[in-house]
Amino acid sequence: MTVDLVRVEHISKSFSGVAALDDVRFDLRSGEVHALLGENGAGKSTLMKIISGVYTRDSGDFYVNGTKITGDLTPQSAQHLGIGIIHQELNLCPHLTVAENIFLNREFTVSGILNEKKQNEAVKQYLKTLNLDIDPMIPVRKLPVSKQQMVEICKTLSMNARIIIMDEPTSALSEKEIEDLFKVIAMLKAEGRGIIYISHRLEELSRIVDRVTILRDGRYVKTLNFAETNLPEIISLMVGRTLTEKFPRIEMERREAVLEVKNLSSPYGVGVKNASFNLYKGEILAFAGLMGAGRTELVRAISGADKMSEGEIRLNGKPVNIHAPSEAIAQGLFCAPEDRKRDGLCVKMTVAENITLPSLDIISRLGIIIRSLELKKSREMIQSLKIKTPGEDQYVKNLSGGNQQKVVVGKWLMRNARVVIFDEPTRGIDVASKIEIYNIINDLKRNGIGVMFVSSELPEVLGMSDRIMVMCNGRITAELITRNTNQEEILKHATQYSGGGNG
Ligand SMILES: Nc1ncnc2c1ncn2[C@@H]1O[C@H](COP(=O)(O)OP(=O)(O)OP(=O)(O)O)[C@@H](O)[C@H]1O
Ligand SMILES: [Mg+2]
Repeated sequence: MTVDLVRVEHISKSFSGVAALDDVRFDLRSGEVHALLGENGAGKSTLMKIISGVYTRDSGDFYVNGTKITGDLTPQSAQHLGIGIIHQELNLCPHLTVAENIFLNREFTVSGILNEKKQNEAVKQYLKTLNLDIDPMIPVRKLPVSKQQMVEICKTLSMNARIIIMDEPTSALSEKEIEDLFKVIAMLKAEGRGIIYISHRLEELSRIVDRVTILRDGRYVKTLNFAETNLPEIISLMVGRTLTEKFPRIEMERREAVLEVKNLSSPYGVGVKNASFNLYKGEILAFAGLMGAGRTELVRAISGADKMSEGEIRLNGKPVNIHAPSEAIAQGLFCAPEDRKRDGLCVKMTVAENITLPSLDIISRLGIIIRSLELKKSREMIQSLKIKTPGEDQYVKNLSGGNQQKVVVGKWLMRNARVVIFDEPTRGIDVASKIEIYNIINDLKRNGIGVMFVSSELPEVLGMSDRIMVMCNGRITAELITRNTNQEEILKHATQYSGGGNG
């Protein structure tokens, strides 16, 4: 008889009296990928943090390799038991190098002296397993989010864990990186290790998953063999109802241009070359392309986060010179950025403070913040976005990943916008909340606001936009009318210059 690598039963956990987990069970077998699914705030990360010793359980039974764990685990003792976790929110030290991060607290030393050469050699081996071309000596902060995620994965592999928890590992990865990761997962499975896999990208499950367990509102719902179920069943178990319309599209007549971009170039990142396009009032214009196609760079140049080297921008027909995000905001142009932790949120501040941060003028009188206005405005936003939080004064770092994303969106909806740019707004967001975000985008559209919508998920690009600009290697390679195009055509233009690789 095979023994479960991990088994937990009757696990409960509360935070300041609010239950995050209530009588939950889960088990992981050797050589399987077991997906843990549920809406934002269902308790997935909390359960994984208990299994990996980050949080202590309030009650419940815990077995590792059939042996009962009586006390509480710490991250160190969990690591000794062979449990490794790749956290949802990246946990690297930005100023340290790739190699230093991977071997943090486990440095290669000889008589107390660091053997950097040997350490770098070891790191190179791990990077090679993941098919990664990264210099071990580069500081992590210089890497894009997707590469940082891969470094985090490398770090866990290097610990030689038997039980590997991946909390949304693919949410920031490109198609090619996902392919590489799935190959590694297959290899780990073949070695008899077990993988607990959390993801909101349900389409990818069929490629790796053996079993699924579903949580809802902190409670255990069901465990199923993946081969004996299907996505509609999984989704209805997750949300407790059947979802009718995945993409609530609305049609509007074309009106005048609100944003005109001419011959814009930006030297940053992959570099944007000579981009020109119009965005019309009440239009949703999607920007599709592979990871690294230059979409974020384009957005950053338009919104004043990066300087553009050439080009012209007009808002409502008038030329504007935007040198900083604050100037963009003053002109009614808002951007909800891609990397929410770095650019979008102050995680050590409360939900109310974050939501009202760009709108201090709205909630202040004579330069003084009126607390009751701050609470009223943020409460309205929490309700309309259905942000799951015990109150306005909860710290953002205590919200689940998807609910943090809603706070980013909420910040910009407070303002009277002309143009709103969303960069990957639904990353890490569950199926039902995605629809809430689409409804918000539709509300903007109905109000005549122009929406730029950067997304790597082609189904939502095709489901929500009116027009699609495809980018590849910093250039706009196609302008497509959404109702006349399809996935294949978009991909063709997205890989135009890169020969199908990770442009
Ligand atoms: N340290 C904490 N302090 C207070 N509340 C917390 C803390 N950690 C988690 N919670 C709460 O516990 C609940 C479950 O959160 P958890 O992060 O486990 O959700 P999740 O299923 O991982 O969601 P997501 O898909 O959005 O990542 C949420 O309501 C969250 O606000
Ligand atoms: Mg989570």
